[in-house]
Amino acid sequence: MRKALLWLLVLLLPLTAQATTLTADANDTWREMSDTLYGLFFEDINCAADGGLYAELLQNRSFEYENILNPQRADHYSAWRINAAPGSKAEWSLMNEDPLNANNPTYLRASVEEGSLRLFNQGFATGALKGGITVKAGQSYDFFMYLRDQALEGCVTVAITDAGGNPMSEPVSFTPEGAWGKYTASFTAAKDADAWLCVTVEGQGSVDLDMLSLMPADRLGKDWPGGGLRRDLVETLRGLEPAFLRFPGGCVTEGSYTRDNVYNWKDTVGPVEQRRENPNTWGGMQTYGMGFYEYFCLAEELGALPLPVVHAGVLCQAREPRESDYTMDETWAYAQDILDLIEFATGSADTPWGALRAEMGHPEPFDLRYIAIGNENWGAGYFTRYGILSQAVKEKYPEITCIVAAGPVAEGALINDSWNRIRAKFADSLVDEHYYMDSMWFPEHVNRYDSYPRTTKVFLGEYAAHEPVQGSRRPNNLRAALCEAAYLTGIERNSDVVCMAAYAPLLAREGQVDWTPDLIWFNGTQVLLTPSYYVQQMFAQTLGDWVVRSALDEEKLFHVVTRTEDKLQVKLVNLAEEDIPLTMHLTSVPDGEGVYTRLSGEMRTANSFVKPFKAAPATGACQIANGEAQTVLPACSVTIYEFPLQ
Ligand code: AHR
Repeated sequence: MRKALLWLLVLLLPLTAQATTLTADANDTWREMSDTLYGLFFEDINCAADGGLYAELLQNRSFEYENILNPQRADHYSAWRINAAPGSKAEWSLMNEDPLNANNPTYLRASVEEGSLRLFNQGFATGALKGGITVKAGQSYDFFMYLRDQALEGCVTVAITDAGGNPMSEPVSFTPEGAWGKYTASFTAAKDADAWLCVTVEGQGSVDLDMLSLMPADRLGKDWPGGGLRRDLVETLRGLEPAFLRFPGGCVTEGSYTRDNVYNWKDTVGPVEQRRENPNTWGGMQTYGMGFYEYFCLAEELGALPLPVVHAGVLCQAREPRESDYTMDETWAYAQDILDLIEFATGSADTPWGALRAEMGHPEPFDLRYIAIGNENWGAGYFTRYGILSQAVKEKYPEITCIVAAGPVAEGALINDSWNRIRAKFADSLVDEHYYMDSMWFPEHVNRYDSYPRTTKVFLGEYAAHEPVQGSRRPNNLRAALCEAAYLTGIERNSDVVCMAAYAPLLAREGQVDWTPDLIWFNGTQVLLTPSYYVQQMFAQTLGDWVVRSALDEEKLFHVVTRTEDKLQVKLVNLAEEDIPLTMHLTSVPDGEGVYTRLSGEMRTANSFVKPFKAAPATGACQIANGEAQTVLPACSVTIYEFPLQ
């Protein structure tokens, strides 16, 4: 017994007697860091675009919903509830003859013999009886719709209402005249509510309706042809200080099963009512109200470099059966689409596609420097097509860097094969790695990039730490976030090789979840930040210019030391369930006060709409004198210290 106690003492002694030490000399810089390291990956998954960032409050606004990939998720009547008012004689039908335009072929004909017909749109609500147009008292909403008179003797009245059609805004009536015309109104909500938009056709005769739109008057990008974006979500993205914006996918870019589903950027530009909708592989439809022009504008708005991803002539390889890859001839022909996209982004207003950009409201070119060809593709078929497409880009636009896909996994034969092919033929491309792994994989692989050759650069285009599923979801808890933070210390140490990294997916609408975990959650009015969001933010806000050589004598901790001209940054992650006292010996750092930001708590902590700030960063001060700073790293924490260097 005594012997056992003695052994325990011997084991504990080093813990109590010797504080952990970190040593670094601020002037001993090692590697230059990438100034584009932290950015965003945006894809229309979990209603991220339609029903999310895109400010449109109506769902299936032009009756085009018809998701052949997910028939149960979207049809022409999705989100609409249509009925004749009690005692009325009225009917309705979907029509295709002589539509608003060829890209918007379906519209609704409402016919009334007596009384009125009511059309309710529930927005992006989930339950059939629930209104999903979240309005706020006193706020204004811009509305428009296209009408074509079919001898209606009567009017079309529109209002924001409850489920029974009782107005929550002053109703506005229109008398349709002649051919298709645009009718506009502005509504002010009388109270906070999850509401409906109600269109009432009354009188006698018929009228055709198409392309109805309701957006908050307070939105960003009102002048963009798509109509604009939800301001609170844009501000949340801005809070991440992104250096780049990768869009529009993800799998949606590649197209699923059929070539018709390929994301064609040309469908997404020009007047919004002329954008041809496409089934969304994750759920409903892509209206493309947030299209390529809007993505470029958003990137510019955020101060981020746009990073478009285009289809590579190979349909999504994760979904079978799929139509054949493009033939070589088709691939060469398709290359022109990519060149046209680059012209759209960067060409002068004298070029055909540059002219369209100018017409849409942006005569100046966008700052396009990268183009990704393919998303999660692999194998000989992909790399042959990548060779053709990237060669076409390089010949015409040598200043643009092409990004090549390395496939959807972190380890094993598939990614090894991709890297072998890339090193042999495309070493000058940026290599897009994607991996979603169990949380603990991340700290265990913090040294992944230490051994990568320094020549070919990596773009970690999608990653996230995955916790075990609870209920139907993988939680966005602190443990996942801390594992990501631990990994980021390794990414920063290797940011001469990893020049870009983006968490995925970015956004999820409550009740419309296709994938978990996600960085940012939202509903009609609230935005919910996850612990992973805070980690991304903390690291992005303290991005250094150089990695500083450092040493730490505690294996449980993960760390990196970086610096800018005027600050030394010490990033420390403690995944252990115990506090760890730490002495920092920091040479070439003047006496004074540093600051820190810390995220800590119990590993299972997750934020919710009811308790949104259970895990949120706290700040504090840390003194440094004679090159020494004392601190305690709490159990389960990430802390970033910044010490002034001048
Ligand atoms: O981020 C969600 C999906 O994960 C992306 O669409 C795809 O690229 C990956 O498989």
